[in-house]
Amino acid sequence: MKKYFLKTFGCQMNYSDSEKLESVLESIALEQVERIEESDIVIFNTCSIKQHAEDRVFGYVRNAKKLGKIVGLTGCMVRKTSTQHFEKDEKDSLLKKFERIDFVFRIEDMKSLPELLQEYDENIQRPKISFDELDYLNISPKLKENFRAFVPIMTGCDKFCTYCIVPFARGKERSRPFADIVNECEMHVKNGVKEITLVGQNVNAYFLDDSTRKTLQRQTDFAILLDEIAQIKNLKRLQFTSPHPRHMGQDVIDVMVKNENIARTLHLPVQSGSTKMLQKMGREHNISRFTDFTKNLRKAIPEITITTDIIVGFCDETEEDFQETMKLFNSEKFIMAYISKYSVRKGTIAGDKMKDTISLEEKKRRFELLTEKLKEVLRKENKKEIGKIEEVLVDEVKNGIASGKSHRGRTIRFPIGEKNKRFIGEIISVKIISSESIWSFTGEMM
Ligand code: 5AD
Ligand code: SF4
Repeated sequence: MKKYFLKTFGCQMNYSDSEKLESVLESIALEQVERIEESDIVIFNTCSIKQHAEDRVFGYVRNAKKLGKIVGLTGCMVRKTSTQHFEKDEKDSLLKKFERIDFVFRIEDMKSLPELLQEYDENIQRPKISFDELDYLNISPKLKENFRAFVPIMTGCDKFCTYCIVPFARGKERSRPFADIVNECEMHVKNGVKEITLVGQNVNAYFLDDSTRKTLQRQTDFAILLDEIAQIKNLKRLQFTSPHPRHMGQDVIDVMVKNENIARTLHLPVQSGSTKMLQKMGREHNISRFTDFTKNLRKAIPEITITTDIIVGFCDETEEDFQETMKLFNSEKFIMAYISKYSVRKGTIAGDKMKDTISLEEKKRRFELLTEKLKEVLRKENKKEIGKIEEVLVDEVKNGIASGKSHRGRTIRFPIGEKNKRFIGEIISVKIISSESIWSFTGEMM
């Protein structure tokens, strides 16, 4: 067993975890391959957020077993079960499907993977470095690109939104020590990284864990961390995902104003435009709290762009509730929204105690109407961008066209005249010429 294939599903936290997993596998001299056919062992780092996400993984597992590979599973499908009844249901249903899988490990136990793999191949070497004493969040990632990095600052979630499986999959909120995070960011910047994304299920619940929540009673822990990292010399761009609207306050806005290297784009999941729905979802914020925050943010940073997550067709969502979400899109002018049709997750409060009242057909209708609304707003908003000059961090060059994201989160493509990879990882001033599609612009180098 020499070669492995790793496929990652889901959010940026999973991608960040996979970079650490790659470090662990490299330490035992396993070589990563890009094609599953060339591998001996296949690992899936999975997502559970919707049933569809889990079904996809099982499709991949079947295929990998057909190819005769040793298959391992990690990530959110391997639950950190916190309630007894959930654990039992979970075992019954997952183990049946796990028959085809050779091994399963929780992501935070990745340092024990070498030992686990020795069962399949006694030639597997002991790791050159010892991971034993390390919290997995401190394992150095194997970066795919040398110009940007994801840095986890916390993991888990205590919010228990009624629809969401994450608290069961990831367990309780746990913050990484301040100094460890800052050291890692400094190391990345020293190695040439220009853009850092701080990741976690609820980044702005940073450090508000059980032991500190009582004594601190303030929301500034995340703002303090953000401020400290933004001060790292030569860090060009700092962003974070995802914050919870409930913890979002003026302190974060103030830090963003003070530090211009913090991206002028914010992902702030709202989930619904109806306060009634938000309460049913257990979001613990109402719509006016959300819109008050975005109003203050726009007042302080007029050029900011905002993106969000929405669930359509949650239990008992009426046409009026849905129209509130449509209205919110008109007023908030999101430049992107990840819209999901509600998917029942067994073990969650909504999954066990609420009725999934909206038909799939109706969920699809709402999904399509909202997507059309997003596009309608964007068509108008995009026109306002023409002629602006933006700083683009180039992440791809293809056929003489470079592309990347601006500081305001917009995708911009521009010709570079030659097929030159030298541009990847560079920050280039680009003038926006036209709106190429709804989701991106074309521009020219200044
Ligand atoms: N059904 C549909 N969408 C969901 N999300 C989380 N749980 C569910 C669910 N059960 C969405 C939310 C969240 C994003 C990561 O996934 O919008 O913000
Ligand atoms: Fe899920 Fe809510 Fe936690 Fe986000 S805040 S991970 S939606 S439970």
